[in-house]
Amino acid sequence: MNIKERIEYLRKEISQHNHKYYVLDKPSVSDLEFDLLLKELEYLENKYPNYYDKNSPTQRVGGKVINGFASKPHKYKMLSLANTYSEDDLYDFDKRIKKLTDKIISYVCELKYDGVSISLTYKNGNLIQALTRGDGVVGDDVTANVKTIKCIPLKLRGDFPIDFEIRGEIFIGKSDFIKMNKVRSSEGLEKYANPRNTASGSLKLLDSNQVAKRPLDCYLYYLLTENNVSNSHYQNLKKSSNWGFKIPFETNRYENIDGVISFVKKWEKDRDLLSFEIDGIVIKVDELDIQEEMGFTSKFPRWAIAYKFKAEQAFTKLNKITYQVGRTGAITPVANLDPVHLGGTMIKRASLHNADQIERLDIREGDIVCVEKGGEIIPKVVAIELEYRDLFSQPTIFISHCPSCGTKLVRRDAKHYCPNTETCLPQVVAKFEHFINRKAMNIEGLGGETIELLISQGLVNDISDLYTLSKTDLLPLERMADRSVDNLLSAIESSKNRSLDKIIFGLGIRYVGETVAKILVQHFKNIDVLI
Ligand code: IVH
Repeated sequence: MNIKERIEYLRKEISQHNHKYYVLDKPSVSDLEFDLLLKELEYLENKYPNYYDKNSPTQRVGGKVINGFASKPHKYKMLSLANTYSEDDLYDFDKRIKKLTDKIISYVCELKYDGVSISLTYKNGNLIQALTRGDGVVGDDVTANVKTIKCIPLKLRGDFPIDFEIRGEIFIGKSDFIKMNKVRSSEGLEKYANPRNTASGSLKLLDSNQVAKRPLDCYLYYLLTENNVSNSHYQNLKKSSNWGFKIPFETNRYENIDGVISFVKKWEKDRDLLSFEIDGIVIKVDELDIQEEMGFTSKFPRWAIAYKFKAEQAFTKLNKITYQVGRTGAITPVANLDPVHLGGTMIKRASLHNADQIERLDIREGDIVCVEKGGEIIPKVVAIELEYRDLFSQPTIFISHCPSCGTKLVRRDAKHYCPNTETCLPQVVAKFEHFINRKAMNIEGLGGETIELLISQGLVNDISDLYTLSKTDLLPLERMADRSVDNLLSAIESSKNRSLDKIIFGLGIRYVGETVAKILVQHFKNIDVLI
């Protein structure tokens, strides 16, 4: 085997293992074997750059940081679906369909994935473009980011059409989302609100190396070709799966609307059993010639409809309203509830957002409230049951002073803030936690409690004081053994070598996240100041 053949062999082999792992969920080699193949390919591609291929499996790790996404037109408009909310609506849809055609039709039922839609273009079996929906006519070119998603094939296998588009939904699975948030908490960062926004935010990151680290997944559900590869949407999906795409296995075909309704009912009941979030069911006419006859309104296809699930709700008692102070001083009112089951988990707290929301709903302590889970980790209070209200209940008066330091709060738009950024303990501790986290200064060995202790002992006031700490300062502290003191001091010492972007990020300046910090550094480098 010569070098070129070896490179090609490795690329095929790695793609196949990727497919088995990420699409079929049936790993065929150990992580170690896989890594060895990838390392060998990386080595050969570096040594022989003339065999470069932008769709090689080595290209999935990400590339340059960019300033923004190019807007590109969609070849076929990217429309959304009309929504329905009841069984009656589905019978009406069936009647409308039957008025549009005399032919016998069948329906394909699919889950409605709660993610971000994406349109992929393949030419000669290579992924060449990935566009977000945008306004349906023009989308953002997120090809570099999409290439990092392991279950999306960069090269196809089998008898694929020469030039086609395929559309689907990018999402983050429930367990991956929980894992991401565990890491966020351990780093002292604010948790992500829900898998959908996190998937959408990830896809819009300007640094594809960061995207490669996000556990993005993708189901494809709509094939668009110039010449139909079959006359059935269902068959199209099966074919697409043979070319290497990840196709939902819960999809089913029915001869009549009653079958459709049984599918809807099953998944409305069983949605919690899925490993990803769905927000409804999509029903499509299967026969493509009939789809074509029916066509589109200005907004939607006539041959498909989305049945949206009602948000999951539960009723419980609101015992107490407490107030949390965040890193920026923002005050969040929280409803402390009698524990109640909701969407597969036990809920004890719910968000009340801000003073406006409390006033609008007239939420009071002691009320029976309706909590709803709209994909957020913390559910929200959406209504109260007035008929159960205690005669003596009192309207809620939003706190006027910080629950931690007592400073008078200020109001900016709907949010209240504690302006005492210098000495309000939860704000200061959160700032320290942000500064030391792995993505900033990476100082291990300091938890929230130890930071509080350092502050209360007067050893630190400001993050810069970390660099004045000595062994004699730390040893007398409770829970600080000799070894942990040494480790902490050496972690502080090595943090002095962190790159400038990590330091800037660690300062926790509003709107300056990891990517903006990198862009700033690049900018300063270019104009030749500072560095
Ligand atoms: S088909 C022309 N199928 O829901 C038909 N869409 O509300 C195109 N979605 O924009 C869409 N799961 O982002 C289709 N199985 C599925 C879907 C699905 C989720 C999303 C998609 C679409 C939106 C419409």
